[in-house]
Amino acid sequence: MDCTDLFTPARDFGDGKQLRASNMLQNFRKLQLSEVQRQQMRAAGRFNAQLMDYLRDFVKAGISTERIDQLVHEYTLSNKHTPATLGYLGYTKSCCTSVNDVICHGIPCDYILKDGDIVNVDITSIVDGWHGDQSETFLIGNVSEQGRLVTQCAFDAMHRAIQALTPGCSVSVIGECVVAEADKYGFTVVREYVGHGLGRRFHQYPNVPHFPDRKSRQDYLLPGMCFTIEPMINAGARFTKLDTNDNWTVRTRDASLSAQFEHTILMTEQGPEILTTCPNGPKFGHRF
Ligand code: MF3
Ligand code: CO
Ligand code: CO
Repeated sequence: MDCTDLFTPARDFGDGKQLRASNMLQNFRKLQLSEVQRQQMRAAGRFNAQLMDYLRDFVKAGISTERIDQLVHEYTLSNKHTPATLGYLGYTKSCCTSVNDVICHGIPCDYILKDGDIVNVDITSIVDGWHGDQSETFLIGNVSEQGRLVTQCAFDAMHRAIQALTPGCSVSVIGECVVAEADKYGFTVVREYVGHGLGRRFHQYPNVPHFPDRKSRQDYLLPGMCFTIEPMINAGARFTKLDTNDNWTVRTRDASLSAQFEHTILMTEQGPEILTTCPNGPKFGHRF
């Protein structure tokens, strides 16, 4: 669909095809948030980022991933907000903690972080009905060169994609940037798990693949739309393996390291706005 089509109202409701097109337009319009709704998304992103900043001092060797989850849960509830993952599709924790070869959706447990680990902490909050979603990969103590590089690559891939966004651009801009960054290192981009639109819902249109495909070339990021960019980069092959014991944990098939960063983005008339910036977190240009 061409970007301008989204603004062209269907006039003839007698024709089934037109009616479907018109319903689709209504749904697209809902994705373009008003100024008041944008402020609600900003508040959700800001709280989520504040939670990430609170956590970062605890994400060190010696802490269990279960304890990180407890901290997320307590902090969120004490601020009268809701952890979005708790009870989501049967998930029972308030965050995801993905260590080393875990790509995403690692379940907090009694595992104790140790020197040399890399761990992604992914948190999503619901603030007054609106979602903020972000993740960071943390280096625990002295990490191998490969661990450092894959973390740097995921971070730079996310920022390169954010910087390439313009109002009304195609979603595939993101995949092009992420693949180009991974190629620089000889690393690979995970395909089975993608970024997503978010707002009142956790996961909604559009799908945000971190590689360009046919659909993402035809989807557009219009002013007022919110979505995540969350590239997962593998140091080895791109292939994934779902843990069939818990049906959540996703690992690299070849047991290579994997890193991820995620921000929630609002597209405005002026360009992208990152809603989940941490005052104390790594910024564009950071060297790990
Ligand atoms: N926060 C993840 C994302 O970025 C989704 C986690 S869903 C869960 O989309 F159920 F696994 F927690
Ligand atoms: Co997300
Ligand atoms: Co997330």
